[in-house]
Amino acid sequence: MSGDARKTAEGLTYLTGFGNEHSSEAVPGALPEGRNSPQRAPLGLYAEQLSGSAFTEPRAHNRRSWLYRIRPSAQHPAFTRTGNGALRTAPFTETVPDPNRLRWNPLPDPEPGTDFLAGLWTLGGNGDATQRAGMAVHLYHANASMDRVFSDADGELLIVPERGGLLLRTEFGLLHVEPGHIALIPRGVRFRVELLDDSARGYVCENYGAPFQLPDLGPIGANGLANARDFKAPVAAYEDTEGPVEVVNKFCGNLWTATYDHSPLDVVAWHGNHVPYIYDLRRFNVIGTISYDHPDPSIFTVLTSPSDTPGLAGVDFVVFAPRWLVGEDTFRPPYFHRNVMSEYMGLVEGAYDAKAEGFVPGGGSLHNMMSAHGPDRETFDRASAAELRPQKIDDGLAFMFETRWPVTLTPQAAGAEHLQRRYDDVWDGLERHFRPLR
Ligand SMILES: [Fe+2]
Repeated sequence: MSGDARKTAEGLTYLTGFGNEHSSEAVPGALPEGRNSPQRAPLGLYAEQLSGSAFTEPRAHNRRSWLYRIRPSAQHPAFTRTGNGALRTAPFTETVPDPNRLRWNPLPDPEPGTDFLAGLWTLGGNGDATQRAGMAVHLYHANASMDRVFSDADGELLIVPERGGLLLRTEFGLLHVEPGHIALIPRGVRFRVELLDDSARGYVCENYGAPFQLPDLGPIGANGLANARDFKAPVAAYEDTEGPVEVVNKFCGNLWTATYDHSPLDVVAWHGNHVPYIYDLRRFNVIGTISYDHPDPSIFTVLTSPSDTPGLAGVDFVVFAPRWLVGEDTFRPPYFHRNVMSEYMGLVEGAYDAKAEGFVPGGGSLHNMMSAHGPDRETFDRASAAELRPQKIDDGLAFMFETRWPVTLTPQAAGAEHLQRRYDDVWDGLERHFRPLR
Protein backbone atom coordinates (compact mmCIF):
# COMPACT_ATOMS: atom_id res chain seq x y z
CA MET A 1 0.00 0.00 0.00
CA SER A 2 1.18 3.51 -0.72
CA GLY A 3 -0.36 6.96 -0.74
CA ASP A 4 1.33 7.56 -4.08
CA ALA A 5 -0.44 4.57 -5.61
CA ARG A 6 -3.80 5.82 -4.30
CA LYS A 7 -3.13 9.28 -5.71
CA THR A 8 -2.11 7.78 -9.05
CA ALA A 9 -5.22 5.54 -9.12
CA GLU A 10 -7.63 8.36 -8.42
CA GLY A 11 -6.16 10.63 -11.09
CA LEU A 12 -6.45 8.19 -13.98
CA THR A 13 -8.22 8.90 -17.24
CA TYR A 14 -9.67 6.26 -19.56
CA LEU A 15 -10.83 5.41 -23.05
CA THR A 16 -14.50 4.42 -23.20
CA GLY A 17 -16.27 1.68 -25.15
CA PHE A 18 -16.37 -2.08 -25.42
CA GLY A 19 -14.81 -4.19 -28.16
CA ASN A 20 -14.04 -1.29 -30.43
CA GLU A 21 -10.67 -0.18 -31.77
CA HIS A 22 -8.92 2.04 -29.25
CA SER A 23 -5.58 3.81 -29.61
CA SER A 24 -3.34 5.64 -27.19
CA GLU A 25 0.16 7.04 -27.01
CA ALA A 26 2.02 8.09 -23.87
CA VAL A 27 4.49 10.14 -25.92
CA PRO A 28 3.33 12.26 -28.87
CA GLY A 29 4.31 10.67 -32.17
CA ALA A 30 4.81 7.16 -30.76
CA LEU A 31 1.85 5.70 -32.63
CA PRO A 32 2.56 5.12 -36.33
CA GLU A 33 -0.02 6.40 -38.76
CA GLY A 34 -1.31 4.47 -41.73
CA ARG A 35 0.42 1.17 -41.07
CA ASN A 36 0.83 -1.24 -38.17
CA SER A 37 4.42 -2.23 -38.72
CA PRO A 38 6.40 0.45 -40.54
CA GLN A 39 9.97 -0.24 -41.61
CA ARG A 40 11.07 1.80 -38.64
CA ALA A 41 8.54 2.33 -35.88
CA PRO A 42 8.45 5.90 -34.49
CA LEU A 43 10.85 7.00 -31.75
CA GLY A 44 12.99 3.86 -32.07
CA LEU A 45 10.22 1.62 -30.69
CA TYR A 46 9.61 -2.01 -31.64
CA ALA A 47 6.25 -2.94 -33.22
CA GLU A 48 4.62 -6.13 -31.96
CA GLN A 49 1.20 -7.70 -32.44
CA LEU A 50 -0.61 -9.41 -29.54
CA SER A 51 -3.42 -11.62 -30.83
CA GLY A 52 -6.29 -12.74 -28.61
CA SER A 53 -7.95 -14.71 -31.41
CA ALA A 54 -6.74 -16.78 -34.34
CA PHE A 55 -5.72 -14.51 -37.22
CA THR A 56 -8.58 -15.91 -39.29
CA GLU A 57 -11.52 -15.62 -36.90
CA PRO A 58 -14.50 -13.63 -38.21
CA ARG A 59 -14.15 -9.90 -37.87
CA ALA A 60 -16.77 -9.73 -35.10
CA HIS A 61 -14.65 -12.08 -32.98
CA ASN A 62 -11.19 -11.04 -34.10
CA ARG A 63 -9.10 -9.53 -31.32
CA ARG A 64 -5.64 -8.13 -31.56
CA SER A 65 -3.62 -5.13 -30.51
CA TRP A 66 -0.46 -3.57 -31.85
CA LEU A 67 2.04 -2.57 -29.19
CA TYR A 68 4.90 -0.10 -29.69
CA ARG A 69 7.43 -0.87 -27.03
CA ILE A 70 10.94 -0.10 -25.87
CA ARG A 71 12.07 -3.72 -26.21
CA PRO A 72 10.30 -6.57 -28.01
CA SER A 73 8.65 -9.17 -25.78
CA ALA A 74 10.82 -11.81 -27.42
CA GLN A 75 13.86 -10.52 -25.55
CA HIS A 76 13.83 -12.59 -22.40
CA PRO A 77 15.76 -15.46 -20.81
CA ALA A 78 14.33 -18.98 -20.45
CA PHE A 79 11.43 -19.55 -18.08
CA THR A 80 11.79 -22.18 -15.37
CA ARG A 81 9.12 -23.83 -13.28
CA THR A 82 8.17 -22.31 -9.97
CA GLY A 83 5.64 -23.33 -7.33
CA ASN A 84 1.94 -23.05 -8.15
CA GLY A 85 0.96 -22.14 -4.58
CA ALA A 86 -2.80 -22.66 -4.16
CA LEU A 87 -3.47 -22.03 -7.85
CA ARG A 88 -4.94 -24.97 -9.83
CA THR A 89 -6.04 -25.40 -13.42
CA ALA A 90 -8.49 -27.48 -15.45
CA PRO A 91 -8.91 -30.33 -16.01
CA PHE A 92 -9.98 -30.71 -12.38
CA THR A 93 -9.77 -34.42 -11.60
CA GLU A 94 -8.66 -34.65 -7.98
CA THR A 95 -12.19 -34.86 -6.55
CA VAL A 96 -15.43 -36.26 -7.96
CA PRO A 97 -18.02 -33.67 -9.00
CA ASP A 98 -20.34 -33.02 -6.05
CA PRO A 99 -24.14 -32.79 -6.50
CA ASN A 100 -24.57 -31.17 -3.07
CA ARG A 101 -25.32 -27.53 -2.46
CA LEU A 102 -22.11 -26.09 -1.01
CA ARG A 103 -21.23 -22.82 0.69
CA TRP A 104 -18.04 -21.33 2.03
CA ASN A 105 -17.14 -18.57 4.46
CA PRO A 106 -14.46 -16.09 3.33
CA LEU A 107 -10.86 -17.20 3.01
CA PRO A 108 -8.84 -16.76 6.20
CA ASP A 109 -6.41 -13.84 6.26
CA PRO A 110 -3.21 -14.51 4.32
CA GLU A 111 0.30 -14.73 5.72
CA PRO A 112 2.11 -11.36 5.87
CA GLY A 113 3.75 -10.44 2.58
CA THR A 114 1.20 -12.23 0.37
CA ASP A 115 0.77 -10.53 -2.99
CA PHE A 116 -2.14 -10.97 -5.42
CA LEU A 117 -0.48 -13.82 -7.29
CA ALA A 118 0.60 -15.69 -4.16
CA GLY A 119 -2.86 -15.08 -2.74
CA LEU A 120 -4.77 -16.81 -5.55
CA TRP A 121 -6.63 -19.85 -4.20
CA THR A 122 -8.53 -22.09 -6.58
CA LEU A 123 -11.98 -23.35 -5.61
CA GLY A 124 -12.58 -25.45 -8.72
CA GLY A 125 -13.67 -25.30 -12.31
CA ASN A 126 -14.29 -27.24 -15.47
CA GLY A 127 -13.13 -27.83 -19.02
CA ASP A 128 -9.51 -28.03 -20.03
CA ALA A 129 -7.15 -25.07 -20.25
CA THR A 130 -5.17 -26.74 -23.04
CA GLN A 131 -8.39 -27.09 -25.08
CA ARG A 132 -9.29 -23.43 -24.44
CA ALA A 133 -12.65 -24.44 -22.96
CA GLY A 134 -14.11 -24.06 -19.49
CA MET A 135 -13.35 -21.89 -16.51
CA ALA A 136 -11.91 -21.79 -13.02
CA VAL A 137 -13.19 -20.08 -9.90
CA HIS A 138 -10.42 -18.53 -7.83
CA LEU A 139 -10.48 -16.39 -4.74
CA TYR A 140 -7.68 -14.05 -3.74
CA HIS A 141 -6.51 -12.52 -0.51
CA ALA A 142 -3.48 -10.29 -0.34
CA ASN A 143 -1.76 -7.83 1.97
CA ALA A 144 1.21 -6.79 -0.17
CA SER A 145 1.67 -5.22 -3.57
CA MET A 146 3.32 -7.25 -6.30
CA ASP A 147 6.81 -6.28 -7.28
CA ARG A 148 6.72 -8.91 -9.98
CA VAL A 149 4.74 -9.09 -13.20
CA PHE A 150 2.24 -11.78 -14.11
CA SER A 151 0.55 -12.97 -17.29
CA ASP A 152 -1.85 -15.81 -17.92
CA ALA A 153 -1.55 -17.72 -21.19
CA ASP A 154 -4.39 -20.03 -20.12
CA GLY A 155 -7.20 -17.52 -20.14
CA GLU A 156 -8.52 -14.09 -19.38
CA LEU A 157 -8.96 -13.01 -15.77
CA LEU A 158 -12.19 -11.37 -14.60
CA ILE A 159 -11.37 -9.81 -11.22
CA VAL A 160 -14.23 -9.03 -8.82
CA PRO A 161 -12.84 -7.17 -5.77
CA GLU A 162 -14.75 -7.59 -2.53
CA ARG A 163 -12.37 -5.79 -0.17
CA GLY A 164 -9.66 -3.25 -0.95
CA GLY A 165 -8.89 -1.16 -4.01
CA LEU A 166 -6.39 -2.31 -6.63
CA LEU A 167 -4.13 -0.43 -9.00
CA LEU A 168 -3.48 -2.64 -12.03
CA ARG A 169 -0.38 -1.68 -13.95
CA THR A 170 -0.78 -3.39 -17.32
CA GLU A 171 1.12 -3.32 -20.59
CA PHE A 172 -1.66 -1.05 -21.90
CA GLY A 173 -1.64 1.37 -18.97
CA LEU A 174 -3.14 1.72 -15.51
CA LEU A 175 -6.56 0.69 -14.19
CA HIS A 176 -8.11 1.49 -10.83
CA VAL A 177 -10.63 -1.02 -9.53
CA GLU A 178 -12.56 -0.96 -6.25
CA PRO A 179 -15.18 -3.26 -4.73
CA GLY A 180 -18.33 -2.81 -6.80
CA HIS A 181 -16.28 -2.65 -9.98
CA ILE A 182 -14.76 -5.41 -12.09
CA ALA A 183 -11.57 -5.57 -14.10
CA LEU A 184 -10.69 -7.80 -17.00
CA ILE A 185 -7.15 -8.74 -17.98
CA PRO A 186 -7.09 -10.40 -21.42
CA ARG A 187 -5.21 -13.61 -22.09
CA GLY A 188 -1.48 -13.04 -22.23
CA VAL A 189 -1.45 -9.41 -21.08
CA ARG A 190 1.19 -8.71 -18.45
CA PHE A 191 0.25 -6.82 -15.33
CA ARG A 192 1.18 -6.03 -11.76
CA VAL A 193 -1.31 -5.58 -8.91
CA GLU A 194 -0.67 -2.88 -6.30
CA LEU A 195 -2.83 -2.65 -3.21
CA LEU A 196 -4.51 0.65 -2.37
CA ASP A 197 -5.54 -0.46 1.12
CA ASP A 198 -3.96 -2.61 3.81
CA SER A 199 -5.48 -5.77 2.40
CA ALA A 200 -7.42 -6.97 -0.60
CA ARG A 201 -9.82 -9.81 -1.15
CA GLY A 202 -12.07 -10.91 -3.97
CA TYR A 203 -12.98 -13.36 -6.68
CA VAL A 204 -11.49 -14.23 -10.06
CA CYS A 205 -13.10 -16.05 -12.95
CA GLU A 206 -10.39 -17.46 -15.19
CA ASN A 207 -12.04 -17.99 -18.54
CA TYR A 208 -10.25 -20.48 -20.78
CA GLY A 209 -12.87 -20.13 -23.54
CA ALA A 210 -13.91 -17.40 -25.93
CA PRO A 211 -13.30 -13.91 -24.56
CA PHE A 212 -16.13 -12.34 -22.60
CA GLN A 213 -18.40 -10.23 -24.77
CA LEU A 214 -21.56 -8.22 -24.22
CA PRO A 215 -24.67 -10.38 -24.55
CA ASP A 216 -27.06 -9.79 -27.45
CA LEU A 217 -30.09 -7.79 -26.37
CA GLY A 218 -32.80 -9.26 -28.65
CA PRO A 219 -36.18 -7.64 -28.02
CA ILE A 220 -34.71 -5.46 -25.25
CA GLY A 221 -33.41 -3.29 -28.08
CA ALA A 222 -30.30 -1.23 -28.60
CA ASN A 223 -29.75 -0.22 -24.96
CA GLY A 224 -29.78 -1.86 -21.57
CA LEU A 225 -27.91 -4.28 -19.31
CA ALA A 226 -24.23 -3.29 -19.46
CA ASN A 227 -23.89 -0.39 -21.87
CA ALA A 228 -20.74 -0.41 -24.01
CA ARG A 229 -19.90 3.21 -23.19
CA ASP A 230 -19.40 2.36 -19.51
CA PHE A 231 -16.42 0.09 -20.10
CA LYS A 232 -13.10 1.83 -19.62
CA ALA A 233 -9.74 0.91 -21.11
CA PRO A 234 -6.46 2.48 -19.96
CA VAL A 235 -4.47 5.13 -21.73
CA ALA A 236 -0.90 4.18 -22.60
CA ALA A 237 1.61 4.43 -19.74
CA TYR A 238 5.01 2.79 -19.68
CA GLU A 239 7.88 1.92 -17.38
CA ASP A 240 11.36 2.67 -18.69
CA THR A 241 13.36 0.82 -16.07
CA GLU A 242 16.45 -1.36 -16.34
CA GLY A 243 17.28 -3.88 -13.66
CA PRO A 244 15.98 -7.27 -12.57
CA VAL A 245 12.21 -7.83 -12.78
CA GLU A 246 10.61 -11.19 -12.07
CA VAL A 247 8.03 -12.15 -14.70
CA VAL A 248 5.71 -15.05 -13.96
CA ASN A 249 3.79 -16.78 -16.74
CA LYS A 250 0.91 -19.20 -16.17
CA PHE A 251 1.04 -21.75 -18.93
CA CYS A 252 -1.12 -24.91 -19.16
CA GLY A 253 -1.67 -24.88 -15.43
CA ASN A 254 1.84 -24.25 -14.18
CA LEU A 255 3.66 -21.12 -13.14
CA TRP A 256 6.94 -20.38 -14.90
CA THR A 257 9.34 -17.63 -13.89
CA ALA A 258 12.09 -15.63 -15.55
CA THR A 259 14.11 -12.65 -14.45
CA TYR A 260 14.14 -9.94 -17.09
CA ASP A 261 16.72 -7.15 -17.13
CA HIS A 262 14.03 -4.55 -17.80
CA SER A 263 10.35 -3.94 -17.09
CA PRO A 264 8.10 -5.64 -19.65
CA LEU A 265 5.49 -2.93 -18.98
CA ASP A 266 7.33 -0.79 -21.54
CA VAL A 267 4.59 -0.17 -24.14
CA VAL A 268 4.72 3.50 -25.14
CA ALA A 269 1.78 3.41 -27.56
CA TRP A 270 -0.80 0.89 -28.72
CA HIS A 271 -3.94 0.41 -30.76
CA GLY A 272 -6.39 -2.45 -31.00
CA ASN A 273 -9.30 -4.21 -29.37
CA HIS A 274 -7.52 -6.85 -27.23
CA VAL A 275 -7.36 -4.59 -24.21
CA PRO A 276 -7.87 -4.70 -20.45
CA TYR A 277 -10.83 -2.81 -19.06
CA ILE A 278 -12.84 -1.94 -15.96
CA TYR A 279 -16.58 -1.59 -15.41
CA ASP A 280 -18.65 -0.16 -12.54
CA LEU A 281 -21.37 -2.72 -11.74
CA ARG A 282 -23.62 0.08 -10.49
CA ARG A 283 -23.84 1.28 -14.06
CA PHE A 284 -25.65 -1.95 -14.96
CA ASN A 285 -29.07 -1.10 -16.38
CA VAL A 286 -31.18 -3.72 -14.62
CA ILE A 287 -34.12 -4.96 -16.66
CA GLY A 288 -36.99 -6.71 -14.89
CA THR A 289 -40.70 -7.20 -14.87
CA ILE A 290 -43.16 -4.35 -14.68
CA SER A 291 -46.14 -6.70 -14.66
CA TYR A 292 -45.77 -10.15 -13.07
CA ASP A 293 -43.28 -13.04 -12.65
CA HIS A 294 -39.50 -12.90 -12.88
CA PRO A 295 -37.58 -12.94 -16.06
CA ASP A 296 -35.00 -15.74 -15.72
CA PRO A 297 -31.74 -14.57 -14.09
CA SER A 298 -30.01 -14.51 -17.48
CA ILE A 299 -31.60 -11.04 -17.71
CA PHE A 300 -28.81 -9.93 -15.33
CA THR A 301 -25.94 -11.03 -17.61
CA VAL A 302 -23.13 -8.49 -17.74
CA LEU A 303 -20.71 -10.46 -19.91
CA THR A 304 -20.92 -13.81 -21.65
CA SER A 305 -18.35 -16.22 -23.03
CA PRO A 306 -20.18 -18.15 -25.74
CA SER A 307 -19.45 -21.81 -26.36
CA ASP A 308 -19.81 -23.63 -29.67
CA THR A 309 -23.55 -24.12 -29.02
CA PRO A 310 -25.60 -20.93 -29.54
CA GLY A 311 -27.12 -19.67 -26.30
CA LEU A 312 -25.14 -22.09 -24.15
CA ALA A 313 -22.42 -20.08 -22.44
CA GLY A 314 -19.07 -21.46 -21.40
CA VAL A 315 -19.49 -18.95 -18.60
CA ASP A 316 -21.74 -15.98 -17.94
CA PHE A 317 -20.95 -13.22 -15.47
CA VAL A 318 -24.23 -12.20 -13.89
CA VAL A 319 -24.85 -9.43 -11.35
CA PHE A 320 -27.67 -8.95 -8.85
CA ALA A 321 -27.44 -5.18 -8.69
CA PRO A 322 -29.66 -2.70 -6.82
CA ARG A 323 -33.14 -2.75 -8.37
CA TRP A 324 -36.84 -2.28 -7.79
CA LEU A 325 -39.09 -5.28 -7.38
CA VAL A 326 -42.60 -4.53 -8.59
CA GLY A 327 -43.98 -7.87 -9.82
CA GLU A 328 -47.70 -8.04 -9.11
CA ASP A 329 -48.89 -11.26 -7.40
CA THR A 330 -45.30 -12.46 -7.64
CA PHE A 331 -42.99 -14.17 -5.18
CA ARG A 332 -40.29 -11.61 -5.52
CA PRO A 333 -37.03 -13.14 -4.30
CA PRO A 334 -35.39 -15.45 -6.87
CA TYR A 335 -37.60 -18.50 -7.28
CA PHE A 336 -36.85 -22.11 -6.35
CA HIS A 337 -35.27 -23.87 -9.27
CA ARG A 338 -33.14 -26.60 -10.74
CA ASN A 339 -31.03 -25.79 -13.72
CA VAL A 340 -28.80 -27.51 -16.25
CA MET A 341 -26.21 -24.77 -15.73
CA SER A 342 -23.87 -24.69 -12.71
CA GLU A 343 -23.76 -21.59 -10.55
CA TYR A 344 -21.02 -20.18 -8.34
CA MET A 345 -22.30 -17.15 -6.44
CA GLY A 346 -20.30 -14.56 -4.53
CA LEU A 347 -21.23 -11.48 -2.55
CA VAL A 348 -19.40 -8.17 -2.83
CA GLU A 349 -21.34 -6.34 -0.16
CA GLY A 350 -24.50 -6.34 1.91
CA ALA A 351 -26.95 -9.20 1.71
CA TYR A 352 -28.60 -11.25 -1.03
CA ASP A 353 -32.38 -11.17 -1.13
CA ALA A 354 -32.84 -14.97 -1.23
CA LYS A 355 -30.78 -15.74 1.87
CA ALA A 356 -31.36 -14.46 5.38
CA GLU A 357 -27.94 -15.35 6.75
CA GLY A 358 -24.81 -17.43 6.16
CA PHE A 359 -24.04 -15.99 2.72
CA VAL A 360 -21.55 -13.29 3.56
CA PRO A 361 -19.29 -10.91 1.62
CA GLY A 362 -16.17 -12.80 0.57
CA GLY A 363 -17.93 -16.14 0.87
CA GLY A 364 -19.56 -18.08 -1.91
CA SER A 365 -21.94 -20.85 -2.82
CA LEU A 366 -21.91 -23.52 -5.49
CA HIS A 367 -25.06 -25.04 -6.94
CA ASN A 368 -23.98 -27.55 -9.55
CA MET A 369 -26.29 -28.60 -12.36
CA MET A 370 -29.72 -29.84 -11.32
CA SER A 371 -29.07 -29.21 -7.64
CA ALA A 372 -32.25 -27.78 -6.13
CA HIS A 373 -31.94 -24.35 -4.57
CA GLY A 374 -33.79 -21.19 -3.80
CA PRO A 375 -34.75 -19.01 -0.86
CA ASP A 376 -34.31 -20.18 2.70
CA ARG A 377 -37.23 -20.55 5.08
CA GLU A 378 -36.95 -17.13 6.64
CA THR A 379 -36.88 -15.47 3.23
CA PHE A 380 -39.76 -17.63 1.97
CA ASP A 381 -41.95 -16.84 4.96
CA ARG A 382 -41.21 -13.12 4.81
CA ALA A 383 -41.65 -12.83 1.04
CA SER A 384 -44.86 -14.88 1.00
CA ALA A 385 -46.42 -12.49 3.48
CA ALA A 386 -44.92 -9.28 2.13
CA GLU A 387 -47.26 -6.54 1.10
CA LEU A 388 -47.28 -6.27 -2.67
CA ARG A 389 -45.91 -2.85 -3.35
CA PRO A 390 -42.73 -1.67 -5.06
CA GLN A 391 -39.70 -2.65 -3.05
CA LYS A 392 -36.14 -1.39 -3.54
CA ILE A 393 -33.32 -3.89 -3.26
CA ASP A 394 -30.36 -1.65 -2.61
CA ASP A 395 -28.37 -3.15 0.22
CA GLY A 396 -26.42 -5.82 -1.59
CA LEU A 397 -24.29 -6.65 -4.61
CA ALA A 398 -24.13 -10.34 -5.47
CA PHE A 399 -22.83 -11.95 -8.63
CA MET A 400 -22.70 -15.33 -10.32
CA PHE A 401 -20.29 -17.20 -12.54
CA GLU A 402 -22.72 -19.47 -14.38
CA THR A 403 -21.28 -22.20 -16.57
CA ARG A 404 -22.54 -24.97 -18.84
CA TRP A 405 -20.33 -27.58 -17.15
CA PRO A 406 -20.34 -28.73 -13.51
CA VAL A 407 -17.70 -27.19 -11.29
CA THR A 408 -15.38 -29.82 -9.82
CA LEU A 409 -13.70 -28.77 -6.61
CA THR A 410 -10.05 -28.73 -5.76
CA PRO A 411 -9.18 -30.84 -2.70
CA GLN A 412 -8.41 -27.63 -0.78
CA ALA A 413 -11.98 -26.37 -1.41
CA ALA A 414 -13.64 -29.73 -0.72
CA GLY A 415 -11.81 -30.05 2.59
CA ALA A 416 -11.60 -26.39 3.57
CA GLU A 417 -12.02 -25.33 7.17
CA HIS A 418 -14.23 -22.53 5.90
CA LEU A 419 -16.61 -24.88 4.04
CA GLN A 420 -19.97 -24.69 5.82
CA ARG A 421 -20.90 -28.18 6.99
CA ARG A 422 -24.63 -27.67 7.37
CA TYR A 423 -25.64 -25.59 4.37
CA ASP A 424 -28.53 -27.99 3.61
CA ASP A 425 -30.16 -26.86 6.86
CA VAL A 426 -31.02 -23.57 5.14
CA TRP A 427 -33.95 -25.35 3.48
CA ASP A 428 -34.67 -27.69 6.35
CA GLY A 429 -37.37 -25.67 8.03
CA LEU A 430 -39.55 -25.09 4.98
CA GLU A 431 -42.94 -26.26 6.16
CA ARG A 432 -45.60 -28.25 4.45
CA HIS A 433 -48.52 -25.90 3.66
CA PHE A 434 -50.51 -28.16 1.30
CA ARG A 435 -54.18 -28.32 2.20
CA PRO A 436 -56.17 -30.25 -0.42
CA LEU A 437 -59.72 -28.97 -0.83
CA ARG A 438 -62.37 -31.42 0.34
FE1 LIG B 1 -29.78 -20.56 -9.27
